[in-house]
Amino acid sequence: MHVRRKLIVGNWKMNGGIAALGEVAAVAEAARGAAGAEVAICPPFTLLAAAVTRAGGLVAIGGQDCHWDDSGAHTGSVSAAMLREAGARLVIVGHSERRAEQGETDSLVRSKAERALAYGLQAIVCVGESEAERQAGRAAERVSGQLAGSLPDPGGEGELVVAYEPIWAIGTGRTATPADVAGIHSAIRRSLLDRFGDSGGRIRILYGGSVNSGNAAELFAVPDVDGALVGGASLTAAQFVPIVEAAAHS
Ligand code: PGA
Repeated sequence: MHVRRKLIVGNWKMNGGIAALGEVAAVAEAARGAAGAEVAICPPFTLLAAAVTRAGGLVAIGGQDCHWDDSGAHTGSVSAAMLREAGARLVIVGHSERRAEQGETDSLVRSKAERALAYGLQAIVCVGESEAERQAGRAAERVSGQLAGSLPDPGGEGELVVAYEPIWAIGTGRTATPADVAGIHSAIRRSLLDRFGDSGGRIRILYGGSVNSGNAAELFAVPDVDGALVGGASLTAAQFVPIVEAAAHS
């Protein structure tokens, strides 16, 4: 039986300037007293190095994406090697907004995850169904297809994390019910055990989609929910810290 410490990751998306670095410092201060959970923030690339300094080692700082290559003619991209050098400890790959806006496919997401893991970063691979897929009763099938195509081969899992984020719950104020989350997370766990054997039991599975201080404790009580990927409610320490505390006490 693996003990999985809860991991709470803030995804700032394309939000936050220099003034927002004070929020990183405030979350870091709170994380000092919440040793039961691991805390991370993924700010825009422009703030990454400064955020590492303000986090003081109490909050891990990560990227929101990386390229599959180390360097070269890829205008506008940032590599896992660069993230690592800037002090990042993790990176989100395959977020549904990138899958939709940048047309990222499962195999592209897999290449990015593999490169990030090779650099010793935690790679948070995002999966999740659309509203239409859910209504058609195809949520589990969709997620299992994304896992099959987006995860590395056995032996390459390193510091892999999976985030289940139903697209219809992101930024909408709607969350999946604990029963729905339980069903999908246990199916994800079975896929991870099938693919990676025993080490599939230590991979954390985060829930994402309108997590806030009001619903966090209920979600963290669901088996196989090992933390959260938080968008809107991660932008201020006032909203993010109660989620971290709910995880630390769950
Ligand atoms: P949300 O975003 O918490 O604002 O719904 C979650 C995410 O997209 O990671």
